[in-house]
Amino acid sequence: MKPGQLRAQAATILSRLLQQQGSLATLLERPNDNAQDFPLLQEICFGTCRWYFLLDAVLSQLLEKPLKAKDQDVRCLLLCGLYQLHGMRVPEYAVVNETVAATLVLKKQWAKALVNAVLRSFLRDSETLLARAMKSDAARLSHTEWFMQAMQQAWPEHWQAILEANNQHPPMTLRVNLARVSRQDYLDRLALAQCMARPGALGESSVYLEHAQPVTALPGFAEGLASVQDEASQLIPDLLDLAPGISLLDACAAPGGKTCHLLERGVPFARLVALDNDARRLERVQQNLDRLQLQATLVCADAAEPSSWWDGQHFDRILLDAPCSATGIIRRHPDIKLLRQQDQVRALQKEQLRLLGALWPCLKPGGLLLYSTCSVLPSENADVIGLFVAQQGDAKHEEIPVAWGVECAHGRQLLPDAAGHDGFYFARLRKNPETLLR
Ligand SMILES: C[S@@+](CC[C@H](N)C(=O)[O-])C[C@H]1O[C@@H](n2cnc3c(N)ncnc32)[C@H](O)[C@@H]1O
Repeated sequence: MKPGQLRAQAATILSRLLQQQGSLATLLERPNDNAQDFPLLQEICFGTCRWYFLLDAVLSQLLEKPLKAKDQDVRCLLLCGLYQLHGMRVPEYAVVNETVAATLVLKKQWAKALVNAVLRSFLRDSETLLARAMKSDAARLSHTEWFMQAMQQAWPEHWQAILEANNQHPPMTLRVNLARVSRQDYLDRLALAQCMARPGALGESSVYLEHAQPVTALPGFAEGLASVQDEASQLIPDLLDLAPGISLLDACAAPGGKTCHLLERGVPFARLVALDNDARRLERVQQNLDRLQLQATLVCADAAEPSSWWDGQHFDRILLDAPCSATGIIRRHPDIKLLRQQDQVRALQKEQLRLLGALWPCLKPGGLLLYSTCSVLPSENADVIGLFVAQQGDAKHEEIPVAWGVECAHGRQLLPDAAGHDGFYFARLRKNPETLLR
């Protein structure tokens, strides 16, 4: 690899992200060559996103005037350099040399002296610069102002803990396939494979790994003994009143974590339809089903247009794991901090209500719809359910009588837990048994 190439790559990825041209998941694809450098590239990109707002507050003190829009890549290069100096254990000389060299790779030779000067000034005066930046809560906790204010308003007692949890490295959590192996037996197999792990406190199938592992290193992964899934998502089957003979619709199913978990419960369903409007993501549902040796009916369609996919047979249960801002999983996807805009959240609420309204007629009288999101914004959660119940006369909100989470006006919220589960929201809606079928 040429000097500076990896840093230039990181700067280009961050710059494209800021122009809303993709996410870390799409821009940071593991290469076939230079695979040994990939973890470093990944850490620079993830870390710079995680600490973007703090680093930006530091950088603005170090630049005499803001860089031009066409030099966004140089700005991103500087932010990546500051992250490496502040948050990583890369030797200082290597950071400075490689970052300066990256200006040539980016064909911005004019920025060589600037990059050198900015990074060296930071090294000389980092404590003062950081202390000054941290006077602002949004910079100290490294989130956008609008999101911080939304959290302060929604969760006055928890907002700081939520933002702090969002800045942690997430644990790797597994779902043990209880149809095939008990959690204790799987923990024993992990111990034999030298993987330190502990059981989760909320879900009966959840296991937390002490250190993240490639899935290929997990015992019995290829044979379907375990899957990667956060503990909060693993609470879904318990909230759906599963019973033999029921029919189930998983309306936004891909990549299939919850579909597979529902089937792993071993309850003989009359049918389980897994629907998603993204054909490529739906392929991943099939791959997961194959690995776990499970079966479901997969349908690629817009869930909000039942006339295009529904055969008119009503479902006993519907799971709507709705598209959302994903603000409950920021620690896993720190680029959400940069990508998510306030107006997108308003559009998401509209879409969530559209999906609820369209799916409701597919539910049997007396049936149960479970609405879930990985969002911590009430506008996508309790507000959506409140609005829906107010307009849908035969929908009744049912409490979730459990000890975990925070009870909301409607539904229950799990806030992200630094060492545990992600942020997640659940609400149960029962259809009036007297409703006449259409
Ligand atoms: C939160 S993810 C679902 C995760 C999934 N339930 C799991 O456990 O693996 C939301 C999914 O909704 C799908 N989606 C978004 N809008 C949709 C629509 N109108 N109809 C069907 N699926 C939709 C997306 O493609 C995405 O796969």
